[in-house]
Parts: sequence; C-alpha cells; structure tokens
Amino acid sequence: ELSRQTKLKEVAGIPLMDPTVNNWSQIQTFKAKPDDLLICTYPKSGTTWIQEIVNMIEQNGDVEKCQRTIIQHRHPFIEWAQPPQPSGVDKANAMPAPRILRTHLPPQLLPPSFWTNNCKSSWSSLSPDKGSWSTLRKIYLVLKCVWSNPTSEASFSVNSNNRRKFTNIYLYVARNAKDCMVSYYHFYRMCQVLPNPGTWNEYFETFINGKVSWGSWFDHVKGWWEIRDRYQILFLFYEDMKRDPKREIQKVMQFMGKNLDEEVVDKIVLETSFEKMKDNPLTNFSTIPKTIMDQSISPFMRKGIVGDWKNHFTVAQNERFDEIYEQKLDGTSLNFCTEL
Ligand code: PPS
Repeated sequence: ELSRQTKLKEVAGIPLMDPTVNNWSQIQTFKAKPDDLLICTYPKSGTTWIQEIVNMIEQNGDVEKCQRTIIQHRHPFIEWAQPPQPSGVDKANAMPAPRILRTHLPPQLLPPSFWTNNCKSSWSSLSPDKGSWSTLRKIYLVLKCVWSNPTSEASFSVNSNNRRKFTNIYLYVARNAKDCMVSYYHFYRMCQVLPNPGTWNEYFETFINGKVSWGSWFDHVKGWWEIRDRYQILFLFYEDMKRDPKREIQKVMQFMGKNLDEEVVDKIVLETSFEKMKDNPLTNFSTIPKTIMDQSISPFMRKGIVGDWKNHFTVAQNERFDEIYEQKLDGTSLNFCTEL
C-alpha cells in the first residue's frame, strides 16, 4: 500500500484521477439525452445506495431484474476511465434510453450538454402525431412544469408510454461532511488507484483543503445546492435516508414518475438496507480485483451509519472543522445532522 505512486491532476482547480483527466475531451463532449436521469454525489455520500434504490424503483421492485449485473455496470459512471476497459462515456453511449447515469463531478465540470438540453428541444417534441388530446396533455404538462418551477431552465418531454420525463433529471445525495470524510479516508486506504492518504491527521488537511479526488466537499455540496431550483434536481440527504428510508424512497419514486404499491415500497426498503447490500456480491464491490480495491484493508460496505466521525475526530480537529464549515457554508440554508 505504501508504494502507491498515483497522483491526481487538476482540471479547473479540481483534483481528479489521472485517467479521467486524460480522457477529458471525451467527457466534455458527452451528449446528454433529454430523458437521462443523472445520479450526482460527492464520493462516499450514498451513491451505491441511491443507485440500488433507483434500480429497484425502475424495475418495479423485481429483485431478479435488478440483479442482472453488478451495480457498477448498471449505471455508467460518466467520468470513469481505466484503459483498456471502455470508459464511462463509451458505456453510456452504448446504453439504450432512458438512461440512468452517475457522476461525482461538481456542476461546473459536468458535460455542458446536460445544461443545454433545455425547453427548446422539448417543445420540438410536441408533434401532434398522436391526436390532439395527447398534444394537449403534453402542453398541459409543460405548463404545469414551468408553473410549478418558474425559474427552471429545464423542462420535459413525454415518452411513448406517456410517462412524465423531465429533461435531464438529477438526483443529488448529500452526506454530512464529517462522516463523508471518514468514509472517504477508509476508501482512500483500500482503493489502490487513489493516492496514499497518509495518516488520519495528514488526510484531514488534504480533505479540508479540497485536495482529495473530486475536490472540496464544501464547494461540491454548495454548488449543487445553489442550482437545485433551476433544474429538476431532487436533493436528498444520507441522514434522512437512514432515519426514514421509506419516506425518502417514496420521494424518489414520485420524482421518477412511478407509482408503486406500498408492499413493493416496503420490499425496496428491505432490499436496499445496509445489511442486505453488504452481503450482496452484486452491490458490495467484492468482484473488483484487489489491485483496484483491497477490501481486506477496509470493506466498501464499511459501517453505513451516521456519527462514525466521533471515533476519528479529535476535539481540536472537531472545533477547527466546525469553524471552517461555518465559513464555507455561510449564507446557504443547508442543514446537516451529524448524529441520529
Ligand atoms: S462511492 O465510492 O463514492 O460510490 O461510495 P458511496 O456508495 O457513495 O458511499 C459508500 C458509503 O455508503 C455506505 N452505504 C450505505 N449506507 C447505508 N445504507 C446502505 N444501503 C448503504 N450502502 C452503502 C457505505 O457503507 C459507505 O459508508 P461508510 O461510512 O464507509 O460505511
């Protein structure tokens, strides 16, 4: 582990993994489609968890359909590159619509086509080919969308099943900085394609200075939070998902335009619990080679709790962190809970 030589490279001040930076032009020219659903997170915030939830909702709670392949293959990771394997963009391009994709990028580094897929392109999909009622319904839905979200630059089209589809919908999951930082530390220790984190104290400095891969937690969360009303972004919190998974899953369901029976929702709650996902080889990353993730150092499904930061932060570190946190998130209405 100590011999790891990996270094991060910066794009517009954001440190990213080397192969990602080498593939940057492919990533930036990626073509988003109007019915893409993009899962956005800062690393270690519950990405895998929300992926499994979205997957179960999409498959109407059918466990067998969800288990078609390992989780990393279900939702292309846009900025992922590990040549000679196909890149995240290659995988997304090969995927039939409607696609579900994932990213850890801060909004300013997202491929621009996500933001330009706006109202204009969806108005053009209002062709009167299916009779006037269908067209009227589409117009009604567009007006409803604009009415309920007047500042929105995004809108939606309606697919052939007449299922509501926003133009690029985003699911953002945020996790409190302290637990996120701890989780990322253990991930850095075991993930062999990231730089060596050093000691906890060394890593603490790296994290608060935003020098970890994908940059500053503060800027990431703030960046996505500030644009949440301008686009179709459902902003979720890891801690809410822990406290009341059923309620949060129902929010995601509504957002995806799905209406599933209560018993199906209960099944999704159960199947996406930490205990189930930890034991499931399709969701616990156990099929990833040790040269990439050495889970004998720390498992991917580590603890899955709120408040583990208390076992890592010293009193002095905690005070310093709180001060930085106050400064960085000043003026936002963001409110995180750090214990349940
Ligand atoms: S990654 O590498 O960025 O995609 O990691 P990510 O999936 O975002 O985050 C991993 C952390 O999420 C925890 N996890 C869960 N918690 C609760 N319930 C469920 N179902 C669940 N699935 C994953 C996982 O254990 C990591 O957190 P820590 O604190 O390290 O345990």
